[in-house]
Amino acid sequence: MDLFRSATVRVWDTPDLAGTRAAVEAFDCSRPLFVAGAASADALNLGAILDARWPHEEKRVVTGNFAGSPIPAVLRLRTTIRQFAPDVVVAIGGGSVIDTAKAASVLATLDRADAKDVAALWNVWPAPVPPRGHRLVAIPTTAGTGTEATPYAVLSDERNVKLFGVSREFQPDLAVLVPHFVTTVPRDVIAELAMDALSHALEAFWSRKATLSSDVSATTALALLDGYLANYWKSPTDLVAARGVLLAATHAGDAFRQASSTACHALSFPIAEQLHSSHGSACSLLLANVADINLRDHVTRLKLESLAACLGIRGAAEIPSYIRQWRTRLRLNEEIEQPVHLSPEWPPAPLQEMMANNPVRLEASLVRDLLASLVTA
Ligand SMILES: [Fe+2]
Repeated sequence: MDLFRSATVRVWDTPDLAGTRAAVEAFDCSRPLFVAGAASADALNLGAILDARWPHEEKRVVTGNFAGSPIPAVLRLRTTIRQFAPDVVVAIGGGSVIDTAKAASVLATLDRADAKDVAALWNVWPAPVPPRGHRLVAIPTTAGTGTEATPYAVLSDERNVKLFGVSREFQPDLAVLVPHFVTTVPRDVIAELAMDALSHALEAFWSRKATLSSDVSATTALALLDGYLANYWKSPTDLVAARGVLLAATHAGDAFRQASSTACHALSFPIAEQLHSSHGSACSLLLANVADINLRDHVTRLKLESLAACLGIRGAAEIPSYIRQWRTRLRLNEEIEQPVHLSPEWPPAPLQEMMANNPVRLEASLVRDLLASLVTA
């Protein structure tokens, strides 16, 4: 199965969704269903924008709280999609909104779907899901997850355990980047999501599946983060900086679409679950330590030497401290006081793939040492 089809990505520098309208027309679609997080919809005055841009068509707007993409929210949206039968679903929101729309869009083609069916389809590599019956457009209102550019859809079950879906059917047909839309993000969320994007880019760069094309996306993302993140975090309404970090996040997503991620992402999920921390925060705890380990690999070290020059640091050996400095600058000071334990069933198949992509093989003892090294008290 080809997971490597890329989304078309357009950047639209006015907040009126004119670019989205043009793209939807290019798809020859006229029955849109919009899905948005309630907070984003309010902050962006989305109802007025949609009414102005789609005044005559039959359209449906669904808003709600999709945090964590819980299965019940996915199933409710699936029902709405089946009833309304859109020819395009437009997801406007953070990663959870977009992942909910990805999952519901695919499940809408099944005659029946309950939580058990979802559990059976997710955590399989790749997910054995049917083709989507409509177009999918993703418009991120945060800069970090990169899900607008990837074939991943991460959901949560009733115990808040993550389920990993990977399929070309989850890949949006189009991503529209609207820099205005990411200027209302709180600074702590900017910080966590930026570390997620930094992890996507670095992990894709050192992944065993890296290609010239994924390296270009990863390097572009890292250069943009290096250039714009500090200003965006200080002044989220700085449109130039917001634009730079939004593009960085999508380039980073495009990098790991192609090269997948590695041990940092695989281990971030049990850490986030046990510490009740955000995904980006968990990635930020691990990334420098995983970089330390990966520098032991001669070929990876050589590759990282070339990256160091792009980041304005003296050499590959400084990359772990470069990452730690970002944590400090972004005030991500969370520390672990209790060791994280992995269940005997860990990792599920998609995370096994990520562990296998790490350039240094992490045997069980090395994973234990890595998790122990995170404990500070
Ligand atoms: Fe991530």
